[in-house]
Amino acid sequence: MEKPSDIQVSDEVIADNEIKSFLFEKDLKLNFSDVAGLEELKKKANMKIIMPLTKPELFKKYNKKVGGGILMYGAPGCGKTFFAKAIAGECKASFFHVCIDEILDMWLGNSEKNIATLFKQARENKPAIIFIDEIDALGRKRESSSSTTSSVVNTFLSQFDGFDSDNDGILVIGATNAPWEVDGAFKRTGRFDTMFFVPPPDEPSRAKLFELLLADVPHGDIDYERLAKETSFFSGADIKGVVDKALEAVLDEILECGEERDVITEDLLGVITVTNSSVLGWFENVENVLDYANDSGEYDEVEEYLSFNKPKKKKRKLMGFLGE
Ligand SMILES: Nc1ncnc2c1ncn2[C@@H]1O[C@H](COP(=O)(O)OP(=O)(O)OP(=O)(O)O)[C@@H](O)[C@H]1O
Ligand SMILES: [Mg+2]
Repeated sequence: MEKPSDIQVSDEVIADNEIKSFLFEKDLKLNFSDVAGLEELKKKANMKIIMPLTKPELFKKYNKKVGGGILMYGAPGCGKTFFAKAIAGECKASFFHVCIDEILDMWLGNSEKNIATLFKQARENKPAIIFIDEIDALGRKRESSSSTTSSVVNTFLSQFDGFDSDNDGILVIGATNAPWEVDGAFKRTGRFDTMFFVPPPDEPSRAKLFELLLADVPHGDIDYERLAKETSFFSGADIKGVVDKALEAVLDEILECGEERDVITEDLLGVITVTNSSVLGWFENVENVLDYANDSGEYDEVEEYLSFNKPKKKKRKLMGFLGE
C-alpha cells in the first residue's frame, strides 16, 4: 500500500549533524486512492490544502494567503500520518516529517537550530508540507511546560508566523491524539486555525480497507461486507493488524503442510473474534472533553460523529462506554 518514495536528506542537514531531526520526502507516490473512505476529509483537504497549494495564483488574486496550519486529531491508528502523506502526494508537495522527540535535542540551543533548519529547508522546497507528529508534546499548555521548552515553542511559533521570511506555499500539519492538551497560542488565527477530525473508518471504508490490504495476496472470494460488519469501531491500524495476523497464520499453515492455499473470509473472522478495538478508550476520554471543554464548539465534529454512531452510545450508557 504505502509505496516507496525517494527519501532525501540534504547535505546541510548532514553537515550540521542534525540528520535525525526530520525526514524529507519528495515525489510521494501515496495518494487519495490509497486512503480508504474519509471522503468528507478528502473534500475538506482539497479545498483547504490541495487547491491553495496547486493554484497559488488564483488564491493570491482573491487575496487569500496560501499556507498556514491544520491540526489533525483523532484516535490512534485512524490514519492521521497516512492521510497527511497522501495529501502531500496529491499536491506534489515536498513532505517534511517531524517527530517532536527528534526535534527536541538535549543540547541547549540545538532544538531551536533544528526548527530553523526545518523551516529553511521547507522554504527552499516549496510547495512544502511540514508534518509535525505528536504536536501536543511541543505545544502542551504552558502551565505544564518548563522554561526550556517555552523557548523552543517561541522559536517554533516565530518560524511558523514567518515575520521576516516568506512562508507562502508552506503548510504546517500538526497531528495529535489529544488536541485539548495543545496550547491556545498554537491555535490562534494564522497558525493551526483549522481542525480536522480523523474518525475511525465507517463500514464501507472498513470493507474497502480489507480489500486494499488483501489486494496483493492470493485470496478467494472474500465477504468484505461481513468483515466490515464485525469490526465496528476498529481503527485502520487495528484492521491492518487483523490482516497481518491472518496472513501469518495462513503462512504458518502452508509451511507446516507444504500446500499453498488462498486466504479466505474465515481466516480473518478467526482473528477478529480475538481482537479488540483500540479506539474505545480514546472516545471515553473525549466524552469528558465534550462535557467540559467544548464551549467554543471546537470538537463539534466529534459530537456529530458520536451522534451518527448512536447505537454504540446507547450501549455505553447502559453497560459502560461503547461496551460490546
Ligand atoms: N483510511 C485508511 N486507509 C488506508 N489505510 C489506513 C487508513 N487508516 C489507517 N490506515 C493504515 O493504518 C496504519 C496506521 O495509520 P496511521 O499511522 O496513519 O495512524 P495515526 O492516526 O497517525 O496513528 P497515531 O495516532 O498512532 O500516530 C497506516 O499506516 C495505514 O496502513
Ligand atoms: Mg501518526
